[in-house]
Amino acid sequence: MEKKNIDWANLGFGYQETDKRFVANYKDGAWDEGALVSDATIAINECAGVFQYAQTCFEGLKAYTTQDGRIVTFRPDLNAQRMEDSCKRLEMPVFPKERFVQAVIDTVAANEAYVPPYGSGATLYIRPYMFGSSPVIGVKPADDYQFRIFTTPVGPYFKGGVKPLTIKVSDFDRAAPHGTGHIKAGLNYAMSLHAIITAHNEGYDENMYLDAATRTNVEETGGANFLFVTKDNKVVTPKSDSILPSITRRSLMVVAKEYLGLEVEERVVPFEEIKDFAECGLCGTAAVISPVGKVVDHGKEIVFPSGMNEMGPITKKLYDTLTGIQMGRIEAPEGWIQVIK
Ligand code: PLP
Ligand code: COI
Repeated sequence: MEKKNIDWANLGFGYQETDKRFVANYKDGAWDEGALVSDATIAINECAGVFQYAQTCFEGLKAYTTQDGRIVTFRPDLNAQRMEDSCKRLEMPVFPKERFVQAVIDTVAANEAYVPPYGSGATLYIRPYMFGSSPVIGVKPADDYQFRIFTTPVGPYFKGGVKPLTIKVSDFDRAAPHGTGHIKAGLNYAMSLHAIITAHNEGYDENMYLDAATRTNVEETGGANFLFVTKDNKVVTPKSDSILPSITRRSLMVVAKEYLGLEVEERVVPFEEIKDFAECGLCGTAAVISPVGKVVDHGKEIVFPSGMNEMGPITKKLYDTLTGIQMGRIEAPEGWIQVIK
């Protein structure tokens, strides 16, 4: 298979159309067979549920070329499960988990020419999503839905790659208690756009959202969970019902404990405590682990001892081990790697 002529090393995190995408339609209470199609354009009614009441959710995962030349993806069963959780909360039909995983495999295989080579620093981002496609004008769920998956080759999510980020403590809330913060609903991202543009305009890379009820505990950023490392090398991650259960974060907690022998804690993290941590990182499919150098709370700076020049040592070990597992350099726990070809 001849690869596309792409400057892999200089890719950013952007959309580039690839050859094939998967499409399945839900009508009269059932999903059709689904198919891989060439047309990247969607034509649906002007009054579709997705346009009127934002009835849509999505997932994100990546395909990797391993050291020995296979193409693999990472824990797609967990994306399938999370999408099921999102669909149930948004009154959307579930796309069966086994079919979700098969559709991911088929879509990546059909776009093999766009899977970045091993060692290029790029990956193939996979975006499954679903939306209400039939008209609704009263506030209610649509009758018909479309489930789709496209792929796009990507580089690092944050410009500058592994340069530590500066994060702003946001004045906006991302998620309400008992709301939709724990699912991957498009609406969570729509309402974060003003907050992220505000942060960018002020020179910050991302926002730290606090819990909406008390504004005392750390939640997450707009697109990644937090990991902290204590001065005695414990890995700590915030626990809350209103943050997205990151697959990367859950995997990293296993890596920290089982591969690196570190103590791990998932617990409430008071904002007051972060000045005492040694390292901080953002973790997610897109972010992988991006180091945070500094958090700014209304002009008050908290600089982590790991500093603004490089990843902290534990963050680096976590990064190397996770990416080693994903790229086939380190043996993966049972069931983590789905071989595509
Ligand atoms: N938190 C939010 C709000 C996200 O959008 C994402 C990205 O999917 C994550 C966390 C990280 O989750 P994952 O590791 O499953 O990609
Ligand atoms: C991902 O990491 O896959 C996400 O969906 C996060 C998004 C901000 C790109």
